[in-house]
Amino acid sequence: MSSFLCFCIVVATALLATAQSPLPLLTALTSQCWHESPFSTVALECATNVHSELVRPIQTVWTSSERATTKPRQYGPWTHKPVCSKPLQSLGTRLCVYTNSTFHGGRGISIVTTPKLAEQFAELPCFKEPSALQGINTFSGAWSVQETPGKGLGLVAKKQLKFKDAITAYTPALVALLEDELSTLDREKLYRIAVHQLPEATRYAYMNLAYIYGQLSVRVQDIVKANTFQLQVGGVNHLSVFPETSRLNHACGPNAQYYLDPARLTHFVHAVRPIAPGEEITIACTYRQHTMRLY
Ligand SMILES: *[C@@H]1O[C@H](CO)[C@@H](O)[C@H](O)[C@H]1NC(C)=O
Repeated sequence: MSSFLCFCIVVATALLATAQSPLPLLTALTSQCWHESPFSTVALECATNVHSELVRPIQTVWTSSERATTKPRQYGPWTHKPVCSKPLQSLGTRLCVYTNSTFHGGRGISIVTTPKLAEQFAELPCFKEPSALQGINTFSGAWSVQETPGKGLGLVAKKQLKFKDAITAYTPALVALLEDELSTLDREKLYRIAVHQLPEATRYAYMNLAYIYGQLSVRVQDIVKANTFQLQVGGVNHLSVFPETSRLNHACGPNAQYYLDPARLTHFVHAVRPIAPGEEITIACTYRQHTMRLY
C-alpha cells in the first residue's frame, strides 16, 4: 500500500562503462547510446494521487484549443490529430504527439516532438518513399527470443551467422524528444497518448518490454528508460524504443553491433564475428546494462 503513496525517488546517475570493441567502428557507434540523458536523472515523483491520475482520461488533460475542430483535416503524414502539451519554456514551443498508425504496412510509429521537428520527420525518406524501408521490419530468420542464463529474455542465434550478417532491422514504436521540463506525470500523459495511438500489435509489443521501477502510473516512461536508444533528427536528440531489438542483451565483448540510420529511423544489428546456433546475440552499450545497475 505505502508504495502507492510515495514511490520511486530514484536518480540514475551511473554511466555506462565504455565497452571493449572488436572493431574500431564501435567507438563512434557507442556514442549513439543513451549514456547521459537528463531523462535518466529525472526523479519519478512522489505521487499521492496515483490512482486518480490513472483513472483520469488522458484526453481531458490537454488544452481544448487543441481539440476543437469542425471538420476532418489532413495532418500531413500523421493519421491522428496532433495532441500537444502547454508551451514549454525550454523548447520555446509545445511538445506534441504525432502518430502515423499505418506507417510501414501498419506497424505504426508515434513521435513526441515539436511542430517544427515534426515537419523534419515528415520529410524523411521513410515517410516519403515507400521503398526506403524495403527489408526493414521483417524477421531475418536469424534469431529467436529465449530465456538466457541470469539475464532474462535475450536473442539467441537460430542458425550459423557470419561476420556482417544482418540480424535485426527495425523502426521504433515510440520516439520522444528529450526534455526535463514537463512533470513526470504530465510527460506520462503525453507518452501514453503516443503509445495508445499505435496499432494494437505494436502497442502490445511496446507495453510488454522490460521496465525498471515497476510503477504502473509511469509505465510508458519506465519502458523508455529501460529500452531507449538515441536518435538524432533535425540535430536534436530523441529517445527511441525498438520493441524487437530491445530484447538484445549487453556484453562487453559483444558478437553483434548496432547502428541507427536517422533517415530511415532504423536500428540495424549485424554480426561482428561468427555466431553459432544457440549462442546468445549481444550488443555493446544498451540501456539494459544501465538498468541492471539500478537495482
Ligand atoms: C504514413 O506513413 C506512410 C509511410 O509508411 C505513408 O505512405 C503514409 O502516407 C502516411 N500516412 C499519412 C496519413 O500520411
